[in-house]
Amino acid sequence: MNDILVKRKKFLGENIPTFYKKPIHIVKGQGVWLYDSNGKRYLDCYNNVPHVGHCHPKVVEAISKQAATLNTHTRYLHDGIVNYAEMLTSKFSEELNQLIMVCTGSEANDIALRMAQAVTGKSGFIATDNTYHGNTSLVSQLSTRKPPIGGHSKNIRLIPAPESITPLGGSHKTQADIFARNTEKAINELEEEGIGFAGLMLCPIFANEGFPIVLPGFLDQTIEIIKKAGGLIISDEVQSGFGRIGSHWWGHECLGLKPDIVTLGKPMANGHPVGAVITQSDIMKSFQSAFGYFNTFGGNPVSCAAAIATLKVLEDENLIENAQNIGAYALEKLKGISHPFIAEARGNGLFFGLEFINEKGQPAIDFTAKIVEEMRERGVLLNTIGKHRNTLKMRPPMPFSKENANLAIETLADVLSDCPK
Ligand SMILES: Cc1ncc(COP(=O)(O)O)c(C=O)c1O
Repeated sequence: MNDILVKRKKFLGENIPTFYKKPIHIVKGQGVWLYDSNGKRYLDCYNNVPHVGHCHPKVVEAISKQAATLNTHTRYLHDGIVNYAEMLTSKFSEELNQLIMVCTGSEANDIALRMAQAVTGKSGFIATDNTYHGNTSLVSQLSTRKPPIGGHSKNIRLIPAPESITPLGGSHKTQADIFARNTEKAINELEEEGIGFAGLMLCPIFANEGFPIVLPGFLDQTIEIIKKAGGLIISDEVQSGFGRIGSHWWGHECLGLKPDIVTLGKPMANGHPVGAVITQSDIMKSFQSAFGYFNTFGGNPVSCAAAIATLKVLEDENLIENAQNIGAYALEKLKGISHPFIAEARGNGLFFGLEFINEKGQPAIDFTAKIVEEMRERGVLLNTIGKHRNTLKMRPPMPFSKENANLAIETLADVLSDCPK
């Protein structure tokens, strides 16, 4: 392992990050389990990319078969991409019936933003102030981990993200109102400055913001304002899509949001690099007229085989229903843990966790980091999320079982009782 660390530094760069103080050398994955080079087994409560389970045999078989037959780009005819497009768009509302396939969520979001520009002829975007939508130069303007060199472009407005424990304005009702007013103010500024408003991009479960609880109808006023201003709504479903939330296929459905564009990535092909943009035919037409988009690897036959197999397993093994049932069970069990720093247990399907606030009423940042390290020592992988990274994020592969939830949460309860403060 030391050898790999030395070579990482030498060939990938000095400050290339790893998870955990003692990084793990994973050599094998199966279902919800990961195995390190010493044969130690870890319960994976973090990774959403191996959506239907690490190395699912049906997905592995589909990839191998197609890789042994043909892999090329989409300017030749191939049934893979059209079959997948038909299968996937059938999971959306009638209007969202066309797609572009890409290789990452970042690319998908970059295209979505440019679609909004093509349709509106304007270039102003709104996103929340504590989000991540990817790493192209356009999308990274909306991603708030590191400020862009030279500051934000004039066409970007970041408005406060909703919060769970301290909602904007002090209550969940005021939060919805303030979010709408901030959107309106940003739109007005963009219009007054001659930039114009093209659209709003958000993750419908505000995953990177710390998955705060928001009330049904939270976005209703905001949607009205955006529609009136002629902007597009882009739902970034890179984290919330493909049944992660259990109750629905897509996060926007549980918010009552009707997006103009949906972007997909991470879980889409169980680890094979696949992303997509789903939209309406008129938006697609405007985009293609403006940009004539082509992606060498997007939608290649192997990627489509992987994506088709993933979708089939998701349905054949009833994994969305599983996310709903086990997610609800895990959340109840999490709520049963007691510790003076626990401020809130929250979740949405198989995306759940705990937020910690210390005795001074401050985000318990170091404490949360310590819990993550201790869980890793005891064979459970999870991590932190949110503005202050004081929320434990648990987002396991979808075949997560009741036994897995018991093991994860009982280990967490033990760790917390061993770390009183
Ligand atoms: C909500 C969201 N959108 C987009 C992305 C970017 O996806 P990718 O890393 O595949 O480019 C991420 C990645 O973490 C994400 O969390």
